[in-house]
Amino acid sequence: MTGTTIRLQGCRKAFADGTVAVQDLNLTIEPGETLAILGPSGCGKTTTLRLIAGLESPDLGQVFFDDTDVTRLPIEKRDVGMVFQNYALFPNLDVAGNIVYGLKIRGMSPAERNKRCAELLELVGLQEHGKRSIHELSGGQRQRVALARALAPRPRVLLLDEPLAALDAQLRERLRSELDQLLRGLGITAVFVTHDQGEAMALGDRILVMEQGRVAQLATPREIYQQPANAFVAGFVGNLNAFTVDSRTANGLKVSGGELPWTGSNLPSTVYCRPEHLRVMDGEGHVRGRLVGQFFQGAQSRLLVDVGAAQPLLVDSTDNVIHLPGAMIALAVEPQVLFTLHS
Ligand SMILES: Nc1ncnc2c1ncn2[C@@H]1O[C@H](COP(=O)(O)OP(=O)(O)OP(=O)(O)O)[C@@H](O)[C@H]1O
Ligand SMILES: [Mg+2]
Repeated sequence: MTGTTIRLQGCRKAFADGTVAVQDLNLTIEPGETLAILGPSGCGKTTTLRLIAGLESPDLGQVFFDDTDVTRLPIEKRDVGMVFQNYALFPNLDVAGNIVYGLKIRGMSPAERNKRCAELLELVGLQEHGKRSIHELSGGQRQRVALARALAPRPRVLLLDEPLAALDAQLRERLRSELDQLLRGLGITAVFVTHDQGEAMALGDRILVMEQGRVAQLATPREIYQQPANAFVAGFVGNLNAFTVDSRTANGLKVSGGELPWTGSNLPSTVYCRPEHLRVMDGEGHVRGRLVGQFFQGAQSRLLVDVGAAQPLLVDSTDNVIHLPGAMIALAVEPQVLFTLHS
């Protein structure tokens, strides 16, 4: 199975009540790529997926699969597999019945169907469960049946809308890596919607961050985290420390609690860094503040340090030293991890 290029060109979708769900959407998804769509509730993620699937048609713009304009093709002619958030399995059919449902509709012979069903049961690790009814399965098993059913007709594109959202944290993490291996093994072009940034980072070759129906940023997980396009993206993906700049000094920037190193020639009003980029120092640091919170998280500790700004600084420290509550903490930061943002 080789992947398909999906291209959305100038797509816009408004609903009858005037809600503009998607606008000015230009997007190319490469063959075999897994694209994660990330964003807050109501930003247009599902609508984008439905435009690709053919469950909605855009008011403006076009959708291409490779060089074919599929804008007016209904879902059954687009050759897509889709997995919904709530499984949407047929409760009156057993596992095998669910998986071969689409094959039956397409007129595949019973012998071929059984062969394909066995392949899929193995692919999703449910060899023993073909005859089970749906209500005898765990949430994770149901999700795998939904995946097998979507993959059964060998679609050229796989679309997943929050496929793991209904599962508990541990199961979600396990299925996440299974799904990752599966998608890579199949080489299928996949688009999946999530509002879990960890999931988007782990599964997506690239992430599309959406804000109010528009592209906020489209880039690799690393770029999104390290070079967020604007304050919305930065705040949505990972935690952020903001320093309000008082003035320029000889070697840096004066901020609440001290002075940050700054090599730029400009004078920004705010500079930012990630919690893991603040280092707890034994002696001198760049800023000092009082410890107002300390949370052990296993591999690291999260410290809250009050430097007299509106919000305490977040510090992720892997040394797991236990500090006394209220202790004065000195923090250092490398100039290259400080960044500015467009609002
Ligand atoms: N059929 C519809 N009729 C009217 N408005 C709709 C319809 N479907 C979606 N919308 C609106 O369009 C906007 C985008 O909806 P969409 O379902 O794409 O968001 P989403 O990003 O998937 O959100 P969530 O994370 O909550 O699933 C929302 O304001 C929503 O209320
Ligand atoms: Mg949605």
